[in-house]
Amino acid sequence: MKLLAATNRYYLVLAGLLFSLGSGLLYFGVLWALQRAVEERLFQQRDYLTRAVRRTGRLPATPFEGRMSVGTAPQPTGLRDVQLPEPLEHNELEPYRQLTFALALGGRPRWVSLSKSLLETEHVRGLVLWLLLAASLSSLATAAILQGREVSREAPRAMPRGVHLQSSNLPSELTMRTEEETLKAIKRGEALWSDRTLGSNGQNCNMCHADGSATHPETYPKFKQQYGRVVTTQEFINWCLIVALRGQKQELGGEVLTALEAYQAYANRGEILEIGVPGP
Ligand code: HEC
Repeated sequence: MKLLAATNRYYLVLAGLLFSLGSGLLYFGVLWALQRAVEERLFQQRDYLTRAVRRTGRLPATPFEGRMSVGTAPQPTGLRDVQLPEPLEHNELEPYRQLTFALALGGRPRWVSLSKSLLETEHVRGLVLWLLLAASLSSLATAAILQGREVSREAPRAMPRGVHLQSSNLPSELTMRTEEETLKAIKRGEALWSDRTLGSNGQNCNMCHADGSATHPETYPKFKQQYGRVVTTQEFINWCLIVALRGQKQELGGEVLTALEAYQAYANRGEILEIGVPGP
């Protein structure tokens, strides 16, 4: 069981990793889909040309948004990326995806290259990159704000945390002291929680209540049949001290029970206060 900020950091790192993974998948997924679309068009065009040549014996003018070149010199067939001069300003090169295949024209072999511009793909890729950058910046900002407010492991359900209900006139020393002293008690409780010398049989609370589980401090005070009356959580801890740990009962309100109660409450923070729900 890690205390306070440690859990937050863990969740932040986890969220960061998941976000990067998701972004990577999205980015490469979009690239892959765009590339596929371009290649699909090239293959369609090749099939169209092959059919037309078979039917008419002649190569029709290319009716699609790409470029076509026909040569007699043998070329390596298949798909590749090439840079071709821009149609209007010939001094600039543009990225193209090119499909080369052989075709028999009038009984003689020809090598046809179809090229489709990747400029649109590049634009979409840029857009996706910007979007991801914006998303990661905004989630970083959110994380920073949340970190600043020290959100708990489980976000409290429905109700804002008590600190929001406090007067804004509260002296900041008091706020700090409250946090420091409470944290000290929680840490002391955490140590006691796994202390095997608290009782006499070598057991500790953590063996039955890992990380404060099944202690339900949010349901106290409540009726417990072991006492035959309504008891506080400290009184019931005493029951476990005596019965489960074969130890001495501790003074109510004393350092030990208060620390154990503090840790228990901390470990169960975010639970809804629900008095009187029967125990495990
Ligand atoms: C050997 C196992 C065992 C150990 C060790 C143990 N407990 Fe328990 N604890 C139980 C059991 C079983 C119950 C359920 C009893 C009941 O609710 O009637 C319980 C119940 C509780 C409850 C009340 C839960 C509820 O909903 O009413 C609290 C609080 C608690 N334990 C605290 C502690 C603390 C603190 C320690 C260490 C000092 C500790 N226990 C050690 C077994 C254990």
